[in-house]
Amino acid sequence: MIDVVRLRDQFPDRRIEFYPEIDSTMRAAVGLPIGSVVLADRQTAGQGRHGHTWHSEPGNGIYCSIVLEPAPALTLALGIATVEAIAQACGIVCDLRWPNDLMLDGRKVAGILVQLSGAQAIAGIGINVNHAEFPPDLRGEATSLRIHQGRRIPREEILVHLLPAVDSLVREDKDTILALFAKASSYVAGRRVVVKQVDGEISGTTAGMNSDGYLIVRRDDGTDTLILAGGVRAAGS
Ligand code: BTN
Repeated sequence: MIDVVRLRDQFPDRRIEFYPEIDSTMRAAVGLPIGSVVLADRQTAGQGRHGHTWHSEPGNGIYCSIVLEPAPALTLALGIATVEAIAQACGIVCDLRWPNDLMLDGRKVAGILVQLSGAQAIAGIGINVNHAEFPPDLRGEATSLRIHQGRRIPREEILVHLLPAVDSLVREDKDTILALFAKASSYVAGRRVVVKQVDGEISGTTAGMNSDGYLIVRRDDGTDTLILAGGVRAAGS
């Protein structure tokens, strides 16, 4: 179980709810005061982006939703905060695959999901921390901090860095967030990618983000396409 007592001691002014089992922390966070944190040891209906489910193995992951005020480039800010927290907790530096995936050894180790609910933004952060393996359908694309580092990592160690990192990043202005994201991500510029779109796939090389944080992909014929949602993967992967 996550050591919630330690977290509540460390962050006495925050409302921190913990569920041994819940359908999704996203649902439980709706309507709580700004700054509230919902954690679960296990999710039975973990939500990913684009209607996917989030594999929420009991006891081994961080399944966390934080209630925030809506802000520009929030998904990008949360990705940077999660990279920073993991680096501070265990020295592992993850890559960021635009817009919301943390990557390690070419596989996904964490994901960010932001849902707007009235005047609130519910920030969902899922991190594969101590998973020893994954179901067959995820094996080729998911990894965990433990698989990478060969040892278990206390989840509280990451959480004590994550909450201040989120607080700090969401206060930054949009241009700073975009600059920090571009610095932390090998996907933003000069990367050969394939992007799944509703009407098929496009291939090209990433050429930065526009001022709103959308990804620019330059096709080999020189034309640029603005990518508004995810679906980006490294070419050849
Ligand atoms: C993604 O598809 O990459 C986003 C995954 C987000 C998963 C987290 S786990 C905590 C929170 N609760 C959920 O049901 N989803 C998010």
